[in-house]
Amino acid sequence: MSAPNKSYDPVEVEALKPEEIERMRDEALAAFAAADSLDALQEAKVAHTGGTSPLSLANREIGALPPHAKAEAGKRVGMARGAVSKAFAARQAELEAERDARVLVEEAVDVTLPYDRTPAGARHPLTTLSERIEDVFVAMGYEVAEGPEVEAEWFNFDALNIGPDHPARGMQDTFFVQGPKGRETESNVVLRTHTSPVQIRSMLDREPPVYVICPGRVYRSDELDATHTPVFMQVELLAVDEGLTMSDLKGTLDHMVQALFGEGMTTRLRPNFFPFTEPSAEMDMVCYVCRGESVGNPDRPCRTCSSEGWIELGGCGMVNPKVLTAAGIDPEKYSGFAFGFGIERMLMFRHNVEDMRDMVEGDVRFTRPFGMEI
Ligand code: PHE
Repeated sequence: MSAPNKSYDPVEVEALKPEEIERMRDEALAAFAAADSLDALQEAKVAHTGGTSPLSLANREIGALPPHAKAEAGKRVGMARGAVSKAFAARQAELEAERDARVLVEEAVDVTLPYDRTPAGARHPLTTLSERIEDVFVAMGYEVAEGPEVEAEWFNFDALNIGPDHPARGMQDTFFVQGPKGRETESNVVLRTHTSPVQIRSMLDREPPVYVICPGRVYRSDELDATHTPVFMQVELLAVDEGLTMSDLKGTLDHMVQALFGEGMTTRLRPNFFPFTEPSAEMDMVCYVCRGESVGNPDRPCRTCSSEGWIELGGCGMVNPKVLTAAGIDPEKYSGFAFGFGIERMLMFRHNVEDMRDMVEGDVRFTRPFGMEI
């Protein structure tokens, strides 16, 4: 800045000459008009309005003018600066509008484009139902146990007190695995016909008390039709502890059907025979559709239970002491209960599935309506 000088003529101060101020203003306006991006505009703003810009420097010169000249020069510079900042704001608004319009185009989503039509799969309802049953027992402290599907005859039969000539071993039921050449019938290996061999494996693997739930695939030489399949799923439960009785079994069954089918559900036991339980029973649950109200009530027939009020679930009983002994557990000290049932049947009446073949054919139109339970 020049030193105050009261005698010189303002028009002699080069930077404050009207044409100079106009030139500075016009240069600023031209620079803003030429800026083609917000960044470039920002640079032009610093160059033409910043502290070291010609107009700012000219503004500072005003202080050096004699008082009578200050007003006019101040007005001129002020008007130029006003025009510059107006031009800046206008160009900024223009460039921002251009940017917004560009972003709208560049980032637009075309909602009419076809989406990825690869259909999402669905987990099989047998798997989700089996997991749901497991959850009921895991919540009570049971462990999930597994065993092989290709099983030694000893586990599948002998250890379960199914003698060598028991009809269940016959060709009509069991898939036998062929032995080596020349000894084809001597493999002593079968496709397990039930999940009960996992009882034996679980007892051999653990010290009592034993509380296990064992879901798994089992095999029987049946034709595939609406109510039979040669490969199906069972869930086996085994509890071995001191002092377990049939009433523990009954309470456990009642809890299970309530957890799976809702409040107020109960089970009933009917005498039956299994070589590996003694006593043994067939277990039924109250029909979850009519809750027994169709019995003796021809006006309200129930298709689910054929108006019998009960639905057969599977087999159960107190573990035969011979089975405990075969698995190395002292039957004088410990007792146990077990039950086993097929999951396909439960899925059939829980979800009104009428044909078992739907469950094995792998058509997603069958599985999808059950939803994507994870
Ligand atoms: N394993 C028997 C079956 O497949 C069911 C069962 C399991 C019965 C446990 C009693 C105890 O039919």
